[in-house]
Amino acid sequence: DWTMSNVIDEQVDEIQARVGDKHVICGLSGGVDSAVAAALVQRAVGDKLTCVFVDHGLLRKGEADQVERDYVASTGVSLKVVDARERFLDALAGVTDPEEKRKIIGREFIRVFEQAAAEVVAEAGAHGEQVEFLVQGTLYPDVVESGGGTGTANIKSHHNVGGLPEDLQFQLIEPLRKLFKDEVRAVGEALGLPSEIVWRQPFPGPGLGIRIIGEVTADRLETLRDADAIAREELSKAGLDRDIWQCPVVLLADVRSVGVQGDGRTYGHPIVLRPVSSEDAMTADWSRLPYDLLARISNRITNEVREINRVVLDVTSKPPGTIEWE
Ligand code: XMP
Repeated sequence: DWTMSNVIDEQVDEIQARVGDKHVICGLSGGVDSAVAAALVQRAVGDKLTCVFVDHGLLRKGEADQVERDYVASTGVSLKVVDARERFLDALAGVTDPEEKRKIIGREFIRVFEQAAAEVVAEAGAHGEQVEFLVQGTLYPDVVESGGGTGTANIKSHHNVGGLPEDLQFQLIEPLRKLFKDEVRAVGEALGLPSEIVWRQPFPGPGLGIRIIGEVTADRLETLRDADAIAREELSKAGLDRDIWQCPVVLLADVRSVGVQGDGRTYGHPIVLRPVSSEDAMTADWSRLPYDLLARISNRITNEVREINRVVLDVTSKPPGTIEWE
């Protein structure tokens, strides 16, 4: 008999029994899965949990703040923030191939996370305590998609930021591995997390790095962030956040087209809107957004974001398209 408080109680008991008085570490990505997983573990072990947030600079506008400020305020969790923005930009310089971007982002993420984890272990060790567990926000569809199994390491290897290191020194805690996304959100709400976090739409681990078609640069990230923030704001205002699964906004950084604005000719980049409806991201349909909403988003983006002079709509379902462009 499946109810939300059963799920929470069961997980809390299980985690307490496993962890005892050891320490636990959890990486926060800014997404709902890791946020809910961490909150669940925190309910079980309290201040034995330390969260690590690697700011790779590939998040959308306001998302780093949401983790560093709002999540901490609502959970009281102890958080270590690593500013790795320069490092990721350096590592991505000159890279355009999607798989290579994913590999680089995954690899850098693991290096930065491991170093931060080592620091957490050392700090605990200085107080005579051991960190033995790592929390992962693995969901049921992740388990299925990567071949099921009982799963220790590498469960989310193609979907997570880079999977897990070979010489994994932690045991995994995966409190969400029997749940679908809508159930994870219900758990998050039951745990009292703020609705901006609970209702955040899925966002890929490699972040905006795979939504810039072409090389990732600081300027392009800024352009995409501005356009994405407008699209998100208008979708929210229209009350459609919970109706669509997600709406990737993609910058075609290597494409330019001619336009006209005011007195002058422009030669800017197109932005793609990719609103989709889905149950679990395995299949998806393009969302039939109202025309006047699309018009507002298009007008605002072309007026407010300097580099963008054209907004296009992706009307491909999955399959054959994937949700993301890279
Ligand atoms: P695709 O593009 O494969 O995306 O149709 C399916 C869902 O997964 C998300 N996605 C990712 N999530 N790391 C993640 O954590 C990734 O590398 C990644 N790639 C895609 C995507 O946003 C969609 O919700």
